[in-house]
Amino acid sequence: MNSSASFSRTIDATAPPLAAAQHPILRRELDLLDAVGVGLGAIIGAGIFVVTGLAAEAAGPAFVVGLLLAGVAALCNALSSAELAAHYPQAGGTYEYGYRLLHPLLGFSAGWMFLASKLAAGGTVALGFGGYLAQLLPVVPARGAAVAAVLLLLAANWFGIKKVGRLNFVVVSVTLAALGYFIVGGLPAFRVEHFKPFAPHGWSGIAEAAALLFFAYTGYARLATLGEEVRDPARTIPRAILITVLVSAVLYLAVGVVAVGAVGAGALAGQAAPLEEAARASALPGCDIVVAVGATTAMLGVLLSQMLGISRMLFALGRRGDLPACFAWVHPRHGVPGVGILLTGAIVLLLSLVGTLTWIVSAVAFTILLYYGITNLAALHLPPEQKRYPRVVAWLGLACCILLGLSLRVEVIGAGLALLVLGHLPRWLWRGVAALQSATGTGTGTGYI
Ligand code: ALA
Repeated sequence: MNSSASFSRTIDATAPPLAAAQHPILRRELDLLDAVGVGLGAIIGAGIFVVTGLAAEAAGPAFVVGLLLAGVAALCNALSSAELAAHYPQAGGTYEYGYRLLHPLLGFSAGWMFLASKLAAGGTVALGFGGYLAQLLPVVPARGAAVAAVLLLLAANWFGIKKVGRLNFVVVSVTLAALGYFIVGGLPAFRVEHFKPFAPHGWSGIAEAAALLFFAYTGYARLATLGEEVRDPARTIPRAILITVLVSAVLYLAVGVVAVGAVGAGALAGQAAPLEEAARASALPGCDIVVAVGATTAMLGVLLSQMLGISRMLFALGRRGDLPACFAWVHPRHGVPGVGILLTGAIVLLLSLVGTLTWIVSAVAFTILLYYGITNLAALHLPPEQKRYPRVVAWLGLACCILLGLSLRVEVIGAGLALLVLGHLPRWLWRGVAALQSATGTGTGTGYI
């Protein structure tokens, strides 16, 4: 770390992706397969295993159209992330793009909203994993399993991105195999009559289902947050993001169609574990248990990717001076952001022990949309020679974020705005202290611009 560097920063949209070797940088070790695995691990979670029940309630069998629409909205947003990550493949994703292409306040807003919501959700996801495992194996205490999972992922994260990639691959493979088993087992029970009436609540029900199911696709931008650790990023990241979203969409549609075909939307509606309900009609033995195992590994995969993303975001904030420079420390042997990883593990562990702040979790939908909204805005500010996709894609992505935002409850928007302000206050304070240190020659910035 460069101890003499100044904390006064300027935005430089033309700066090269990695300005200079003296700035702390992470190690590029993820190939296309690892990257797709990380993307799928981040995406496939409670959305398909739980939210499907709410969507079936809202739209009847036509919730599968909602799945398709949500997939198109996710794809437009994902393409914006992909083209930005290809040109600025750095840790922090939209935090970096916002800083470089828009305004530091927007960059910081994206970074802070990501951190706050993922940290709070991390505790919930860890407890969700523990709860699922305890249902499968009643001798296992739910909280104990949550704590063990966080410790395991903390250790894996510490020993290098390649190791986490391998662990993630195993976890995601189990989830995919479980969903594959569900699809194959459900086909013999498929009845066309289960799709009638197809859309009992009309387009408004389908729109509500799409808004709910958009959550099932979130996570595609995680790769952009890890952009600094992907090999040949300009080629690998866009391909990985695209493959991830398309595979998820096809898988979700197959699961949705088979679930309705097997038991009808009424049997899924409002169920806490709708896929397990549908799995009881499966022609294959033990399908409901297999689906429960898949839901458990899906939670583990989401937790893993959240812990990866949070630690890289802390690193990015430390490198730009929005957090103390120690967060930009890179482990000399493992090439990972050690301080960020330890703090991530400690906070998620604490939250899985004492419970999480529900008002922050309730703001998650707002934070996600703000993050993606800033991503689309940044994509619209890419110079023409850096644009890979037509501008209409980013406009569509932005429009989806605004439309989905309008569907949120006022309390959710209020909680999100409160969280935003709460993050900016300490930043101003910290920046003020840093500027003072810089003026007196005692600053500890990384000099990263
Ligand atoms: N897309 C992730 C899920 O469905 C966040 O849980």
